[in-house]
Amino acid sequence: MITILGIESSCDDTSSAVIRDGMVLSNIIAGQKVHEAYGGVVPELASRAHQQNIIPVVDQAIRQAGIQKEDLSAIAFTRGPGLLGSLLVGVSFAKGFSAALDIPMIEVNHLQAHVLAHFIKQGENDVRPPQFPFLCLLVSGGNSQIILVRAYNAMEVIGQTIDDAAGEAFDKCAKVMGLPYPGGPAVDRLAQEGNSEAFPLNKPQVQGYDYSFSGLKTSFLYLLRDRLKENPRFIEERRADLSASLQAAIIEVLMNKLRKASNDLKINEIAIAGGVSANSGLRNALKEHAAKYGWTIHIPPFAFTTDNAAMVAMNGYFKYLERDFCAMDVVPFTRVEL
Ligand code: KG4
Repeated sequence: MITILGIESSCDDTSSAVIRDGMVLSNIIAGQKVHEAYGGVVPELASRAHQQNIIPVVDQAIRQAGIQKEDLSAIAFTRGPGLLGSLLVGVSFAKGFSAALDIPMIEVNHLQAHVLAHFIKQGENDVRPPQFPFLCLLVSGGNSQIILVRAYNAMEVIGQTIDDAAGEAFDKCAKVMGLPYPGGPAVDRLAQEGNSEAFPLNKPQVQGYDYSFSGLKTSFLYLLRDRLKENPRFIEERRADLSASLQAAIIEVLMNKLRKASNDLKINEIAIAGGVSANSGLRNALKEHAAKYGWTIHIPPFAFTTDNAAMVAMNGYFKYLERDFCAMDVVPFTRVEL
């Protein structure tokens, strides 16, 4: 029996989880409300909140899993990429806890963990995990990539945003419409009542499988600026149509590249990961593509798409099987390739 404790602290969620032989026993996530007042994550506040949250969150993860800390085989933690101060809290905690329990530490790449979330087992209703090779569209507040996954430990980024992440585009455009942070979920809700063709926005032309959102964002900003001159109540009156148009444009950019990659590489096994994969429009677009192009799509449960420690523990489990442990002098990294 292999029991892994996962720790995730790369951005603004403190999370801890227990995975036993690939099955999730607990997955505790503490969000940080402190950032709402600032319209975005404030790194220094995030690391302080992680310090306050980490012990209660780990304690709860162990209790909820119904195990004792002595039952743990190893501790897996997010080494990066992420915010340095935030990562330091998780990495330092993992070091202390592994030394105290005299068990190995396993470093995990946050992006790889998002992909491996698809392999977390939950019990009776488990769906078939993706088959290798598959493509994973990873779309979150900090990352936007198309990843070619050949095996658990063989992944290659074949396309990525050259500027903003998809979630960032949602959040920044939501902010200029006066919506609370993070704006993605609010845009999603409003979009369901709006007309997606009301306001055409500029679509980027980027080579290969890369994409870009900064032009789209600027085009959205200019649209608001021009229309507000004519009607100061423009945003209030058209928020649903604006949201629907914005969401449709972001999804079109993402899907165009994913379709191209699937077509060129002849891979119809498609997965999504990251916070933006909660978006209802993106989920519908994937389902439409599945019906039209014969894709087999994989959408993980919501708790495993946003930042969470179950995916870190799952990645740790695969590494444990290979005895891929790390040394005590390990340090976090803020940026990294897969
Ligand atoms: O993976 P995640 O929790 O962590 C970060 O990378 O920060 O992703 C958060 C991102 C935010 O940008 C948020 O606005 C976006 O995911 N998001 C959504 C939706 N739910 C979360 N974007 C669009 N539609 C949603 N329903």
